[in-house]
Order: sequence, then structure tokens, then C-alpha cells
Amino acid sequence: TICNIIGAPVEDGAGRPGCIMGPAAYRTAGLAQTIAELGHTVIDHGDVQPAAIAPPPMAHPNPAIRNLPEIAAWTTAIADAVWRAGDAGLTICLGGDHSLSAGSLAGRAHLCAQSGRKLFVLWLDAHTDFHTLDSSVSGNLHGVPLAYACGLPGFSGYLPDLQARIDPANVCLIGLRSVDVDERRAIARSGAITHDMRAIDEYGLAPLLRAFLEQVAAAGGVLHVSLDVDFLDPGVAPAVGTTVPGGATVREAHLIMEMLCDSGLVGSLDLAELNPFLDERGRTATLMVDLVASLLGRRVLDRPTRGFT
Ligand code: ARG
Ligand code: MN
Ligand code: MN
Ligand code: MN
Repeated sequence: TICNIIGAPVEDGAGRPGCIMGPAAYRTAGLAQTIAELGHTVIDHGDVQPAAIAPPPMAHPNPAIRNLPEIAAWTTAIADAVWRAGDAGLTICLGGDHSLSAGSLAGRAHLCAQSGRKLFVLWLDAHTDFHTLDSSVSGNLHGVPLAYACGLPGFSGYLPDLQARIDPANVCLIGLRSVDVDERRAIARSGAITHDMRAIDEYGLAPLLRAFLEQVAAAGGVLHVSLDVDFLDPGVAPAVGTTVPGGATVREAHLIMEMLCDSGLVGSLDLAELNPFLDERGRTATLMVDLVASLLGRRVLDRPTRGFT
């Protein structure tokens, strides 16, 4: 498999600085070597450079919104880089805060619109990131990318117009445990598939994920996976500004990646919200690299798989 790596060191969408160091931390943790050792071809496209911010800066009526022109510039640049990488093999975006996914989802949706393939999204996160510019309370734009990519109203004129939107019915969110009031209403209305931590505890991850993967396969779709570090429990992944207790375990996260590998359905992956300034001796970056390895075929014992060869 050809793995395209794209660094997206955006931090303007998060509430505190540090995500700018994310791509460097993944490279330091040996991401490229790890993927290459699994027999894949790595093409590191380096870090995306945001386009120049168009003056005058666009103001939004919601006074809380922060860094909107900056995120607009990043979104354009990341969408373009993802689109140019094409839809062969696997494209991995190294964040950067989760606003990077506004760009990666826009770029993937554009590619799928051109190829006629149906795009599905697996959103692994404590949060839904389903705010609009009007509903965001914190004003941090890492809280809006999924709503933007699904074409919710109110983004036009502020973030770049989408070439193609994502159908919320093709989106599955897993790991939820911190959802704002407006997001809760919007995500329910959208028709997206939502699994909070309670669902994981009641049923286990495997049946929830399996049902979604069967849906993607039946539709002949391709899957974009967006992994927020805060999907994981803070005890095993402290390097994130928005920790929420009670997250996924190391074992659950590896199981997801192994099932995703076996499905043969994944075309793109975001690694979002790593803040290396908050890490402990690189353990979070290292865990994230190990999860990528599981997605790309690292196994304890030999097993049949449809995935990355
Ligand atoms: N809903 C909260 C907000 O809008 C939290 C968003 C957290 N997003 C993230 N990508 N970590 O501020
Ligand atoms: Mn999150
Ligand atoms: Mn909020
Ligand atoms: Mn997120």
C-alpha cells in the first residue's frame, strides 16, 4: 500500500497552543519507519502551508469565534493537499488540532464526488465536533469540522465552500462523552450514527463497529477515519488539551484499528489533537503510532485479512 503522509500543524482551532508540534512528534516517534517496516511505501509530503489570509478578516456575528480567517486558510490548504494526494492507498493527515478535518473531509468528499464512490466517516472522539459557527460556545473551531463537512448551514462565506458534502447518515461517531446542548440536538437531527461510552460499555465496541463496517461494505463505500487523541482515556493518552475521563482503553483502540484493517475499507485517516507539549516522554505520540501500525497490518498472530498489503 502507498501511504501518503500530510502534516497539518494547525493549532488555531484549539483553545491552547501546542498542536503545531504534532506532525513533528509523529515523525520523531517513528511513524514513517513503522509503516515502512510493515511493508508499505511511505510518501511524506511534508507540512501543509496555509494560504495567505485574505484581508479584510471576515468577522462573524458570534463574538466567541476565534481565528476564523486562519482556519479558512488552513482548510483550503489541507483540502487541496488531500485532494492532490488522490484516492489510491491510504492518506494520513498528521494534526494539528481537529479543525484540520474540515480540510481533510472536504478534500476526500471532493475526490469521492469525482470517482463516484460513497464516502463514509468514522469519528473516534469524546466530542461530536458538530457545532456551527452560530452555536459554538467556546469559539474554538476544532469544535466545528464535522458539521462543516456535512454541510450544516452558516459556514458559507466564512469557511471555503464545499465541492461535495458528506451525508450525515454515512457518519458514525464512537466514544462520545462530552457533547454540548446544541450539538446534541443537531447530531440527533442529522441522522448520524452515534455511540457514546455507555453503548460501548453495554454492547462492547466490536458489534457496534462491525455493524457500521457492514453498512459501508454493502454500499461499496470508502471510509475516512478521524481519530481524536481524546477518544482515548487520559490515563493512557495525556497529550491533549481536551481530556475527558472514561475514554477508550489501549485494547479497545487497537481492536478498532485491527477491525478497520481487516475490513479493507479505509482510504484516509486523521490523527487529530496531539499536543506534544502536554505529553509524558512521548507516550501519547508512541501510542498513536502503534495504533496506525495496527491499522496497517501489525498483528500478534497471523490472521486472514482483506486489509493493506
Ligand atoms: N464542544 C466543545 C467546544 O466546542 C469541545 C470541542 C472539542 N473538540 C476537539 N476537537 N477536541 O469547545
Ligand atoms: Mn475531542
Ligand atoms: Mn462548545
Ligand atoms: Mn475532536
